[in-house]
Amino acid sequence: MKPRQIVPNVYLIGAVDWDRRLFDALIPLPRGTSYNAYLVQGGEKTALIDTVDPSKWTELAAQLDELPAPDYVVVHHVEQDHSGSLPMLLERCPGITVVCSEKARTMLVDHLHVDGARFQVVADGDSLSLGDKTLTFLSTPWVHWPETISTYLVEDKVLFSCDFFGSHLATSDLFADEGDVLDGAKRYYAEIMMPFAPQVMKNVEKVTQYQIAFIAPSHGPVYDDPRLIVDAYRDWAGGPLRNVVCLPYVTMHDSTRLMVDHLTAALVERGVAVERFDLVTVDLGELASSLVHAATVVVGTPTILGGPHPLASHAAFVANALRPRTKHATVVGSYGWGGKTVDSIVGALGKLKVEFLPPVLAKGMPRDADYAALDALAETIAEKHADLPPRHGA
Ligand code: FEO
Repeated sequence: MKPRQIVPNVYLIGAVDWDRRLFDALIPLPRGTSYNAYLVQGGEKTALIDTVDPSKWTELAAQLDELPAPDYVVVHHVEQDHSGSLPMLLERCPGITVVCSEKARTMLVDHLHVDGARFQVVADGDSLSLGDKTLTFLSTPWVHWPETISTYLVEDKVLFSCDFFGSHLATSDLFADEGDVLDGAKRYYAEIMMPFAPQVMKNVEKVTQYQIAFIAPSHGPVYDDPRLIVDAYRDWAGGPLRNVVCLPYVTMHDSTRLMVDHLTAALVERGVAVERFDLVTVDLGELASSLVHAATVVVGTPTILGGPHPLASHAAFVANALRPRTKHATVVGSYGWGGKTVDSIVGALGKLKVEFLPPVLAKGMPRDADYAALDALAETIAEKHADLPPRHGA
């Protein structure tokens, strides 16, 4: 695509990756993604903000052919989807100065073997004048790496936030459409930012001390109504959990499915919303999104080779790594003759600050006593969720 102007002399460039379907060999991209770079042309100097995934370097290079040559490249974040084209940029622009945090400088040398002499290291609050435009650099660590900074363009009130506030969404829209962007932004928050929710909240409060007319992230469309994504982030990272059970499950011969079906009905009967995910076909992003707001997680699994089904173990491992704010957890499922299924899942969720509720494991096909235990579990969950807002709305 050609450079697109956000405000006079500030352009969205970079690349839309319409066809990419997996990120980090892990994260599904059902709607693709983009690697946004920006160009800020001042009266005296020009700055490029971030680069693109190396697979899209030729697209960025073609856009740069149409714009003033940059004197600076601001590196917000070292991950290769934004910095991977830096070596090619440095070769193309031998006089360019790399502006980044001290941590990023070290990481760029480590990850990309960039020449360490070409840096201008900036600290929190430092400014760089481009003439009639001023860039102020804000330290925003852990959204989502430790070296991450954001840039505030003072005169035009544009916050360039890199991954922070981003969405994996390939779109031809320059500006975010509320109905289109929030699902993708929530998935992105869940997959990338949720492990750092306390730091996310601190950084939201930090950047919103500035008057912001546009938030320009490095993935997805630009926000010309920043409240949309700022309010969403405040809710996802610090708002109330919802009256929702997240129920990832796997079944082999339907005993666990019968239990999951019964528990689902018992919860719904008691006014508790259920978000179910068959782990054989699950989209990990949908499961992660559910973990953002679900107050309880119930893992459904049969016992195989003395422990949980590997798909259930994987889901528990991922949930543990994403560190949702979930308050309660338990296990339901079946076994043939023994095993340590519950202990394994509880151990796999060890980083979560949850209260473990009594598990329900049936020996073989569930019987009346097992269904009664599931009813009791549903009752307990409904009581613990009594004061929570509903799934939609707070
Ligand atoms: Fe979009 Fe953390 O890179």
